[in-house]
Amino acid sequence: EKVVLAYSGGLDTSVILKWLSNKGFEVIAYVANVGQNEDFKAIEEKAYLTGASKVYIEDLRDELVKDYVFPALKANTIYEGTYMLGTSLARPIIAKRHIEIAKKEGTKYVAHGATGKGNDQVRFEFGYYMNMPDVKIISPWKDPEFLSQFEGRSDMLAYAEKYSIPVKASLKKPYSEDANLIHISHEAGILEDPSSRCPSDVFSLTVDPKDAPNEETVLAIEFKDGLPVSIKNENDNTVVTGPLAMIEYLNKVGHDNAIGRVDMVENRFVGIKSRGVYETPGCEILWKAHHNLEGLCMDKEAMHLRDMLSPKYAELIYNGYWGAPEFNMLTSLFDTSQKNVTGTAKVALYKGNVINAGISSPCSLYNQDLGSMDKAGGYHPVDCKGFINICAIRLMASSQRDNK
Ligand code: ARG
Ligand code: SIN
Repeated sequence: EKVVLAYSGGLDTSVILKWLSNKGFEVIAYVANVGQNEDFKAIEEKAYLTGASKVYIEDLRDELVKDYVFPALKANTIYEGTYMLGTSLARPIIAKRHIEIAKKEGTKYVAHGATGKGNDQVRFEFGYYMNMPDVKIISPWKDPEFLSQFEGRSDMLAYAEKYSIPVKASLKKPYSEDANLIHISHEAGILEDPSSRCPSDVFSLTVDPKDAPNEETVLAIEFKDGLPVSIKNENDNTVVTGPLAMIEYLNKVGHDNAIGRVDMVENRFVGIKSRGVYETPGCEILWKAHHNLEGLCMDKEAMHLRDMLSPKYAELIYNGYWGAPEFNMLTSLFDTSQKNVTGTAKVALYKGNVINAGISSPCSLYNQDLGSMDKAGGYHPVDCKGFINICAIRLMASSQRDNK
């Protein structure tokens, strides 16, 4: 029987690969390139060395930006006000391709190495069920047989030793990471105590704000209907277009200017509180620039309604419901909300900050005369007497009742 295993090249999925093959499965390793900084050739070799019969290395980067990051941007979605969903956004596309490969290989068996305590297991498995309702999921970290064999890291190292699975030096990092083209996460191990500050050598996608340049980097980001179409660096006149190239460029300037670090305690789907440190340099810039432009272009009530629904959308993405009916409803709503979010947002990057450096739009709703303190601009202040009197009717009524 064939099984397609989501394989990263790390210790856990290498042990799982060997364990599956020792159980009699023909193991097909699937490696998703979602923009993590890895040597995919080396991972491929390692998969074969560990016993894979076939290895798929899939470049999902373009699709990840266009079909996952961009919808999240349109919604300005951020989990619990802080986490930009870097891992959560990549899981559904990884699961989708996983099932496509299983179908191509003519098997219903898929396997992944997410633990039984986390969010990723849910995201992967919801993704599998949505794309193949009769899928057969092997999840070793929820399998009593696997769990009785591997109690901790030392059992896995011993197993790796026994079957000559090479163990990477990166294992020395005493915490867990997940990286892709929008972020890197750092969790667990030495980071588990939220009262102790995250050591500075944990960070890898951003420089320390203290080490960032003493001059601002000014970017002009042009948007059409809520999505970026070009970025111009006003310091050196670099121009970048194309979804993936723009994200990569923003990550680079974001890195240099220490943008996008957060350190939080978040609520996992399963109810556990967990400390997470994240670096999301490019998207932090993009989200802020986009939001600044919305201030100019979006109708007040449309924006306030959208703002109520964004946290719900973040929760759905975080909990793995990408593609669920309620998720799709919201996606079309956010899409509609972005018509006319068109124009240019300039931002100045400076030591961890993304500072508004001017917004302009052909679709602006801003009326400078109307907003001015210096002229009437067609506004009739006398009308406001009636406006306030009528709006105050119910306030006076409850006050009178309560003070009786
Ligand atoms: N806590 C984050 C989330 O739930 C990051 C998870 C990182 N996953 C990992 N396998 N290291 O989205
Ligand atoms: C894991 O438990 O596999 C990683 C963390 C998470 O999924 O939340």
